[in-house]
Amino acid sequence: MDFSGSHILSIDQFNRSDIEKLFSVADSLEPYSSKIKVTRVLEGAILGSMFFEPSTRTRISFGASFNLLGGNVREITEVGSSSLAKGESLIDTAKVLSGYSDIIVMRHPDEGSVQKFAEASRVPVVNGGDGANEHPSQALLDLYTIEKELSQNKKSIDGLRIALVGDLKYGRAVHSLCKILSLYSDITIKLISPEALKLPVKLAEQLTKANIEVIETENLEEGISEVDIIYVTRIQEERFKDKKDAIKYKGLMTLNQSIYTANCEPNTVIMHPLPRDSRNDANELDSDLYENPNLAIFRQADNGVVVRMALFALVLGVENQINKFSKPVNWKINRDL
Ligand code: CP
Repeated sequence: MDFSGSHILSIDQFNRSDIEKLFSVADSLEPYSSKIKVTRVLEGAILGSMFFEPSTRTRISFGASFNLLGGNVREITEVGSSSLAKGESLIDTAKVLSGYSDIIVMRHPDEGSVQKFAEASRVPVVNGGDGANEHPSQALLDLYTIEKELSQNKKSIDGLRIALVGDLKYGRAVHSLCKILSLYSDITIKLISPEALKLPVKLAEQLTKANIEVIETENLEEGISEVDIIYVTRIQEERFKDKKDAIKYKGLMTLNQSIYTANCEPNTVIMHPLPRDSRNDANELDSDLYENPNLAIFRQADNGVVVRMALFALVLGVENQINKFSKPVNWKINRDL
């Protein structure tokens, strides 16, 4: 893919060499994401951050990434604070906002909405999550995290064994992750979900076509044995037509330290795109795992910044100019977890 000037809407756009390129730029940006140096390479550029659905990580890390490259951020954080609430169409919104911004990140509850917006936009648009469809930047940071975590155990993505747990029907992070893993070899995916929340058939077929070994089970203990990564997800209550139906599936698959100890191989890495639902009736990832060194969820969230910085650098064509506009920072914060 030619990143420069492209919309980033789906993992379908990527091949392995695109991902290697992105991760190599991300690695080179580590001194900036860890605040050893600052760069002004995007000075004067404006990110339009358009979030028509709640977000903590995606919105803030995209904004922080743009700021770290020297650019500015203008935000909409809900439909009610935009003129969509007055009946303005997404197309008109795109035509107007792309006059004010150099790049736009958008999240919206409807599948396909970000693509529709991008078609009307005069600047590149990055999909920050469209309904239950896709969350491509999440899959990129998830894969970056998987690679980093596996390398600690001298393993690589080819040959990965991963368990995907929870709401595989509505979880867009899982959908994009399945697509990205389809680019690698010798992958085994264990799909662990209630029958009603199984991975959509089209995606399951895509996995089979990519020669991925797929094992389906409703039994958490059985599914998390003999894997390198457990990737837990939240029941996506907001996607259910009747929210009361979601309650039936909450709390069915809680991973805690005793289940982990009894069933997992040593060094099995625990991931979650977050937010996890920590309310008593859900609690899919128990807080007693805080002390487990293989709990990678906060390292995973941290990686969102450097991967999103790399995306901006490539799409805006400045990946080779970052150091030219850099200097050391004047402050120091210790963020060790
Ligand atoms: N992982 C993720 O998309 O988190 P937010 O909903 O907080 O952005």
